[in-house]
Amino acid sequence: MSTHHVGQGTIELVLGDIVNQQVDAIVNAANSRLAGGGGVDGAIHRAAGPKLLEWCQKIAPNADGQRCPTGEVRVTKAANLPAQWVIHAVGPIYQQEQHDQVAEQLRTVHWRALEAAANLNCQSIAFPAISTGVYRFPVAFAAPIALQVASQFLLQNKEPQEIRWILFNESHWQVFQQTLEKMEPC
Ligand code: APR
Repeated sequence: MSTHHVGQGTIELVLGDIVNQQVDAIVNAANSRLAGGGGVDGAIHRAAGPKLLEWCQKIAPNADGQRCPTGEVRVTKAANLPAQWVIHAVGPIYQQEQHDQVAEQLRTVHWRALEAAANLNCQSIAFPAISTGVYRFPVAFAAPIALQVASQFLLQNKEPQEIRWILFNESHWQVFQQTLEKMEPC
C-alpha cells in the first residue's frame, strides 16, 4: 500500500480486490442499467449476494431504461460486503475521437461518487479504476483524471478523508503510483 497526504486527508493505492475493503463505501464500475456484469461489477455482485441486484432493480429507470446514465451515480446498501454502501458509478466508454468529452465524463463521475460519499457522512471510500476494463479507457489517461479529482475534493471537503484506489493488477498500481508522484504536492 502507498499513502499520500493531501490537505487533511489521504489518497491510498492498494493492490487487491475491492470486495474485501473495510471502508464506509465502495464504488462499483457499473453499467447504466445497474444490471450487474463482468469485471469489478460482477465481483461486487457475487460478494454482496442477490440483495444487491434487488436493490439496484428498485431504482426507477428513465424512459430509455437507464437506472444510472453515464457520468451519474446511484447509492444502495452493500448487503454482505464489509462496506456499508455501494456507490454505483457509470463511467464513459473510451472513444479516442471524443477525447475531451469522455475525459470530462470520467472527471464528473468521480466527483459525483465523492459527493455521494460525503452526503452519506462516509470517512472512507474505495474506488476501482473506473472505465479501464471493458470500457477501454487507457489507464495512463484515466489515472491522472481520477487522482486529480480526489486531490481537489480532499482540499475542498471535510469528508471522506480517506480515498483509496484498489488496483487489480500490478501494472495499473504502478501507473497510479507514478501519476501520484508526479502530481504537485498539496
Ligand atoms: N477489484 C478491483 N478492481 C477490479 C476487480 C476487483 N475485484 N475486478 C476487476 N477490476 C478492475 C479491472 O482490472 C479494471 O482495471 O476494475 C477496472 C474496471 O474494469 P471493469 O470492471 O471492466 O469496468 P469498466 O471498464 O468501467 O466497464 C464497465 O463492465 O462489467 C461491466 O457492468 C459493467 O458494463 C459495465 C462495464
